[in-house]
Amino acid sequence: MSENRNEEFRVTVLPGDGIGPEVVETGVRVLEEVAQRFSVALCLDYDDIGWAAVKRYGVPLADETLDRVRKSDAVLLGAVGGAEAESKDFALRPEAGLLALRKGMDLYANLRPVRILAPLLDASPLKPEIVKDTDLLVVRELVGGIYFGEPRGRERTEQGEERALNTMVYTVSQIERVARMAFSLAMERRKRVVSVDKANVLDVSLLWREVVTRIHPEFPEVELGHLYVDNCAMQLIRAPEQFDVIVTGNLFGDILSDEAAVLAGSIGMLPSASLGTQGSLYEPVHGSAPDIAGQDKANPLATILSVAMMFRYAFGLKEAGALIEQAVLAALEQGFRTSDLRAEGARFVGTKAMGDCVLDQIGRIRPDGP
Ligand code: IPM
Ligand code: MG
Repeated sequence: MSENRNEEFRVTVLPGDGIGPEVVETGVRVLEEVAQRFSVALCLDYDDIGWAAVKRYGVPLADETLDRVRKSDAVLLGAVGGAEAESKDFALRPEAGLLALRKGMDLYANLRPVRILAPLLDASPLKPEIVKDTDLLVVRELVGGIYFGEPRGRERTEQGEERALNTMVYTVSQIERVARMAFSLAMERRKRVVSVDKANVLDVSLLWREVVTRIHPEFPEVELGHLYVDNCAMQLIRAPEQFDVIVTGNLFGDILSDEAAVLAGSIGMLPSASLGTQGSLYEPVHGSAPDIAGQDKANPLATILSVAMMFRYAFGLKEAGALIEQAVLAALEQGFRTSDLRAEGARFVGTKAMGDCVLDQIGRIRPDGP
C-alpha cells in the first residue's frame, strides 16, 4: 500500500470565496496527510478565482491562473460567488470565472456521486426508507449546452422591444465523449446508465438520445435507459435506488444534481470531480455560503471527499481515496456533525474540528485495511 513513488504531483489550490478558503484549508490537510502516507510527493500552488480574483487581478479568472492550472496534475477548488459581487455585470461575476475555468481546461465530464452514508439516514428531509439505498453518479456534460451556446445576450427587436436569448446546442462529438465517459464509469459500478433529455420537445435532445444510443454498443455489458428530465426529477425523490449512472447535459445536470443532493442529507456532503482533456478539477458541489463564511461553521466533508476523488482520478490511487472515504464514515459514526447535518444527540463541531476528526480516523485505519 505504501509503495514508493518518484512522481511529484502538482496541485493548484483555488480557495475562492465565502467558505471556500475554510473548507479548502481542511481539505489540504487531508490531502497532505494521505499523500505522505502513500509516499506521494506533492507540490502545492495557490491562486485566486471568483471574487477573490476580481479583487486581485480585476477579472474572475486571470490568464496566468489558467496557464498555471493547465500545467498542474489536479486543481482543488473551494467555491465562488458572494454577496459582495451580486451587482457586477456578467463577465465580472465570480461564476464567470468558474465557467471560464471549465472551458479553459476542457472539463467536459462533471462527476457528482450521491451516496447516503448510514449515519446520515435521518439527516435527509426524505424518509429513511426512500433514501436508504441511494448510490448514484450524475455525469453532467460541463462545457457545452445552453451554458456556452451562441448566440446569446440581449438585443432589441425591430419594434424596439428588449429581448434576451441563450442557445442550447450540442455537437455529436461533445455528446459522444461524455457518453463514453458515463458508460466506462458504469463498468466500474453496477453497469446501468440512464440518459436524461427532453427529446419530446427539443431537437438538441433528439440528437443527444440518438448519439448516446449509437455509442451504447461499444459497452455491451452496460444496460441503457432514457428518461425525460421532468420524469427523472420525480423518480429521483420517489425511488432513487433505481439509478446507477445518470448522464445528461449541462443545464439538466445542474438542476438534477442539486435535487439529488438532498438524498445525501446535506449538499455539504457532496464532492465532485471534473475530468477533461487538460487536467482535472475537484470541488465540493456546494456554493460559497457567504452567510456563514469565516465562522468555522461550514461542513468540510464535501471538500475532503473531493480530495478522495482526486487521489482516485488524478493520481490513480484508488486505495488512498477509499481510505479517506472510510475515515469520513468513521467520523460520522462517532457522532461528529457540522451544523448542516441535523441529528439528535450529535457531537456538533466546527470546520476545523471536523477536519481533525477525519485526520484522527485516518491515523487509526491500519495500512492493510480495516
Ligand atoms: C454548479 C453551480 C454553477 C453551475 C454556478 C455557480 C455557475 O451551480 O457547479 O452546479 O451552474 O454550474
Ligand atoms: Mg449548480
